[in-house]
Amino acid sequence: MEDMTRPDEMDQLFAEEEALEPRPASKDDPWKVLVVDDEEQVHAVTRLVLGDFEFQGRGLKFLNAYTAQAGASLLVENPDVAVILLDVVMESEHAGLELVHKIREEIGNRFVRIVLRTGQPGQAPEKQAFLEYDINDYRTKTELTAEKLFTAMVGALRNYEDIKRIKRLFEQVKASQLATVVAMADLAEYKDEDTGDHVLRIKRRTEAIARKLGASGPYSVAINETFLELVGTAAILHDIGKIGIPDRILQKPAKLTAEEWEVMRTHALMGEHLLRKLAAMVPGPSFMSIGANIAGGHHEKWNGTGYPRGLKGQEIPLEARIVAVADVYDALTSRRAYKEPWPPKEALEALRRDAGSHFDPLIVEAFLELVAEGNDGTIEPSAPAPPPETPERKEPAE
Ligand SMILES: [Fe+2]
Repeated sequence: MEDMTRPDEMDQLFAEEEALEPRPASKDDPWKVLVVDDEEQVHAVTRLVLGDFEFQGRGLKFLNAYTAQAGASLLVENPDVAVILLDVVMESEHAGLELVHKIREEIGNRFVRIVLRTGQPGQAPEKQAFLEYDINDYRTKTELTAEKLFTAMVGALRNYEDIKRIKRLFEQVKASQLATVVAMADLAEYKDEDTGDHVLRIKRRTEAIARKLGASGPYSVAINETFLELVGTAAILHDIGKIGIPDRILQKPAKLTAEEWEVMRTHALMGEHLLRKLAAMVPGPSFMSIGANIAGGHHEKWNGTGYPRGLKGQEIPLEARIVAVADVYDALTSRRAYKEPWPPKEALEALRRDAGSHFDPLIVEAFLELVAEGNDGTIEPSAPAPPPETPERKEPAE
């Protein structure tokens, strides 16, 4: 029994949250303000007017750029800039506005507050600039007086702090959800002896297949960013219902009787019900809601002969259809008490053969493409096992 999530992986999962920890306020820890303007005089006046500015016990540290391009580089080097005082007309008529677009879309900094300052309002009419660009304030350079600049700066910093606080809360909620998911999956794993890294491989394969399907083709609309963010982790909960299956069945080294199979099959609905209950406590799509669809649907078959509901084709949730492929491939290529691992080539052949009957053919196709590209989602490729004498197919994913 191995721990399903390795320490380095956990570190990575929580690294982003740590980076968002609030910094203690101190005089030595000033707010960074980036001034982007091609006129030296504007820089000088800003420094002069805001020289003794303080907010929440912290002063200001100015970074100065004289072109939009230099401003972009400084922001990349200093992602903790709180406010940008930005000119419109610099190396080109719209250099400032183009920089706003670059900051939000390319650099991906949604936190920094942007105060647009223009000498010629005609170049960037206020209403239009506000509507079309993600700026937070708009001032004309005639408003460079001490008082106006002070109120603009306080407003921007307060806003910046609020956004950071909300982001921190959001990350904490996400992290505790993730911790819950990992703990739950661990519980189910403890009961199921020989799965080892099974859930981690399922997570990676599910993510890889979803990314592939999301890139183009008929599923690219359904597979949005939220789906991609949640589906891999949700997939590790696919067998969570096995918590409710007696050990004498789950760990039986021999073939199950028909009656025992009946019991085993209840894990799909049990898992779904458990996760639905949890999902009801979390608004919107979550690991739990997607996980519920996966737990309940991962043994359904494309032609309607699966369980627990006998759903057909598109009636089966997309996330469950993806996990079905990842799960069966993993079961076939893994060692079990009752079978040797199949060589990947034969397992892929089985998937291909069952595309359109057991599996969604588009998903099998995506997985085959991934494998052809050298990515079958395996974490530690083990030495190739000799092909079994007579590969006998069992209900593979149990
Ligand atoms: Fe299952």
